[in-house]
Amino acid sequence: MKRIGVLTGGGDTSALNSILYGITDAAQQDGIEVTGFLRGWAGLLDSGQYVVLSPEILSPDIGGTFLKTSRTKLAKIEGGYDQARANLQALGIDGLILIGGDDTISVAAQFEGVPIAIITKTIDNDVGANSPPDEPLDFSKIVNYFTPGFPSAARRAADFASWHGGVRTTGYSHERIIVLESMGMSAGWLALASAFGHPDFILVPELSLDYARLREMVARRYAEQKHVLVVVAEGAVYPDGSVISADTTNVDAFGHAKLGGCADVIARRLKADLSAELKTRNFNAIIPSYLFRCGAPTVLDKKIGIKLGRKAEQLLARGKSGKMASVKRSGDTLRVVTVDARRLPRDDEGNIVPKRLDLRLYDSENMCITPEGVEYFKPILGKMPSPLQPAKFVTKPTRA
Ligand code: F6P
Repeated sequence: MKRIGVLTGGGDTSALNSILYGITDAAQQDGIEVTGFLRGWAGLLDSGQYVVLSPEILSPDIGGTFLKTSRTKLAKIEGGYDQARANLQALGIDGLILIGGDDTISVAAQFEGVPIAIITKTIDNDVGANSPPDEPLDFSKIVNYFTPGFPSAARRAADFASWHGGVRTTGYSHERIIVLESMGMSAGWLALASAFGHPDFILVPELSLDYARLREMVARRYAEQKHVLVVVAEGAVYPDGSVISADTTNVDAFGHAKLGGCADVIARRLKADLSAELKTRNFNAIIPSYLFRCGAPTVLDKKIGIKLGRKAEQLLARGKSGKMASVKRSGDTLRVVTVDARRLPRDDEGNIVPKRLDLRLYDSENMCITPEGVEYFKPILGKMPSPLQPAKFVTKPTRA
């Protein structure tokens, strides 16, 4: 193996440059040249572009992807597979590392030509397989304990909700009812991570919205503490399964309508129904959107990202194909291991089935995290911080 190619596809994350750094660093030691294709699969097409990569030009401390990205569906481009194959051959590429989410990697299943190594990445944490649902929960059985980029986004989700870096302070000061929207597509992992910032309620898209209960719980909590914070996942659905808010005029190459805006819908509905009863009109929706994906990786994301990159390079250098560099939990330890990419569940058309939130981690009754959920996040976010409780004050009327 003399020259390998690499591309990053799908939404960016904070850990991508760390992965690229790990790949190039390992390749340099093995005397292998690394060609980076720009803008995901698009970089491999005739109008595509590439660069020669080395660890010296990459910074593992900066988020986003040096190689840029796109949501290019090769199968939808006439002659796309052939163009990509021919370009790899012309450039003398002996192996390809794909760094992507479910969509980018689904395309890989139909791609033959050179050996392929896979690193799944997405802030949604929805690629892999859960601990089998019919057996006791066992974290060591999760395929992809997390996808790189998720730990940094999870940290942000917790911070956005918290008293220290998030919306709680203004919620308290202005006695607001805030609905904060998390990214994550149709998976509730990121929304659940916000539990480490102690919101009052979390709504995940795996269970449909029980609006009557939410309304009742918000009203009760407001009566108790005069401010309420609800976190809702962008993919939240109504009982009939339809998403609460999606922009159907904005559909990506994979056919997904752009999600977003359900916090607005819910905040407006709560305002219409509760403002008279609670004597406030202070209902707010906050949608951080791409902020979940921006900025530097956490220490864990950077460390694991570099290791995953090294592992993928080693897989190709040892002549392996169809393997995935993956994170596994054993006890309290996280390790980077090799997994056969066929272990990713697929539907009849070969598309990867998203790994949705394991509902054993979510308490649907109280709309919050379970002790098992706290344990899941322990190696990712550390110990659950104690909730900050503002001192209770006793008010007196200004006039008798
Ligand atoms: O898949 C990652 C993700 O950030 C989702 O959480 C979000 O819905 C989507 O990407 C946004 O996609 P785009 O970058 O195409 O707007």
